[in-house]
Amino acid sequence: MTPDAPALRLRDASIGYGDVAVVRGVDLTVTHGEAVAVLGSNGSGKTTLARGLLGLAAVLDGEVTVLGAPVGRLRERGRVGYVPQRHTVSGAVPATVREVVSVGRLARLGLLRRLRPADRAAVADAVAAVGLADRLGDPVASLSGGQQRRVLVARALAAEPELLIMDEPTAGVDAASQDALAAVLAGVSAAGATLLVVTHETAPLAGVLTRAVVVDHGRISYDGPLAGAQSDVDGGHHHPEDAGRPPAKGYRLDQPRVTSDGGR
Ligand SMILES: Nc1ncnc2c1ncn2[C@@H]1O[C@H](COP(=O)(O)OP(=O)(O)OP(=O)(O)O)[C@@H](O)[C@H]1O
Ligand SMILES: [Mg+2]
Repeated sequence: MTPDAPALRLRDASIGYGDVAVVRGVDLTVTHGEAVAVLGSNGSGKTTLARGLLGLAAVLDGEVTVLGAPVGRLRERGRVGYVPQRHTVSGAVPATVREVVSVGRLARLGLLRRLRPADRAAVADAVAAVGLADRLGDPVASLSGGQQRRVLVARALAAEPELLIMDEPTAGVDAASQDALAAVLAGVSAAGATLLVVTHETAPLAGVLTRAVVVDHGRISYDGPLAGAQSDVDGGHHHPEDAGRPPAKGYRLDQPRVTSDGGR
């Protein structure tokens, strides 16, 4: 493991399932402390990209390192936090909010360690940060879908990860809770953590996320300031030259483009 390696590095990386590449030929470097949005339309490959970083989708080609280690080789798993898309907390075993979030903390400690008072405090803080302090002892199954999403966010936060990968953390979450989450992430980011957030709604997190990567048909079609990515995604068009300046760094002119734009 290299000490000054970037938080994330993908070199000509292809990621997919079985032997089918969904994400293809991606070059991406995220340095420590950056806060990056991953944008793009449904099915473009955002979740696959995120899952590839966690070893949950196969790296089929190229090179992917996370906190300096090849995917899946990072010893301290707790250094990377993950909020999966769409999953709510379910399962046959009844668990309280405290228990589910404690699991996130245990990932940092190693399974043979016990939670000390400081760890319990971190769990309570993470739950409070997502606005569920009053539900700490409640069975997760008794929470709404949006509240369960927030439990998963708390589970990731409780480990105080260096790299936090979140797949649509604000989907299905009400406006007040989105604002609360934005404040939490601003704090996490200010403390030096690296954020990679897949989202369709940049507005709630616009104050936190500064850089954006747009995924289009498995390739990166834009990599630059978040503000510059908006038009790229919102209209489904790709006309960075509309702004009268050269394409942002990382934008590839050889990408497939949507040209049906009657408005120009
Ligand atoms: N487990 C899987 N096995 C095979 N193919 C998959 C799997 N998961 C996703 N795919 C395929 O990969 C492509 C990209 O899916 P992905 O979930 O990465 O998109 P996404 O950008 O996250 O979309 P959304 O905005 O809807 O979440 C889709 O064509 C999808 O069918
Ligand atoms: Mg997705």
